Amino acid sequence: MAKTVIAGNWKMFKTQRETLEFLQGFVEQVSDTPGDRGIVLCVPFTNLSILSKNLHGSRIHIGAQNMHWEANGAYTGEISGDMLTEIGVRYVIIGHSERREYFGETNATVNLRLKAVQAAGMTPILCVGESKAQRDAGETEAHIIQQLKEGLEGVDQKNLVIAYEPIWAIGTGDTCDAKEANRVIGVIRSQLSNQDMTIQYGGSVKPGNVDEIMAQPEINGALVGGASLAPADFARIVNYQ
Ligand code: 13P
Repeated sequence: MAKTVIAGNWKMFKTQRETLEFLQGFVEQVSDTPGDRGIVLCVPFTNLSILSKNLHGSRIHIGAQNMHWEANGAYTGEISGDMLTEIGVRYVIIGHSERREYFGETNATVNLRLKAVQAAGMTPILCVGESKAQRDAGETEAHIIQQLKEGLEGVDQKNLVIAYEPIWAIGTGDTCDAKEANRVIGVIRSQLSNQDMTIQYGGSVKPGNVDEIMAQPEINGALVGGASLAPADFARIVNYQ
């Protein structure tokens, strides 16, 4: 059985002070969350040490939003595996559509990053998904299958989470219909050797739609942007019914 993992992706939001305020509101609201649900907060690099200090011994896992494939070197603006594991990071988002669109991330660099995250002993969360134009052109499946084929070459499928994030549903309030998300995630699963892989849905997940999304048989979790910034909203999502 695939493990359930609910992850927040804070993107480029929150200072250290705001991170502490979030934790004060959030941690106690997930104290009764069923133990088989993984909870992850993927925060900006400057906030990782705040989580590390304040979530020590907690069941909330720490996640980063990117990582370089080299152990060290002249790579201005990048971060290495050792830098993340030293402060207790367990998950790293790789290949988010915003990295692909704004920062030149390709399936080839995604592949290098995925392998490096695994080699460092952490679990990557690989993001895949189609644009509106690709969906309208009937290219959704082909695009995602290509992302998986190139991205997963040589990657250990036993230590990986995949997030299906249709780009047109991110930050738009235009959630993908739960049944359609379930269908596409079924297509993703059909491409994998590990049938027990945790596959999340991401794109305008909110307290009001999470129950329907998580009721779908193929969907094993959520990757949540905007709604993960407010403690009550993200707690409600983690505590889906
Ligand atoms: P929203 O939940 O804000 O649509 O963002 C989704 C996302 O990109 C998570 O990685």
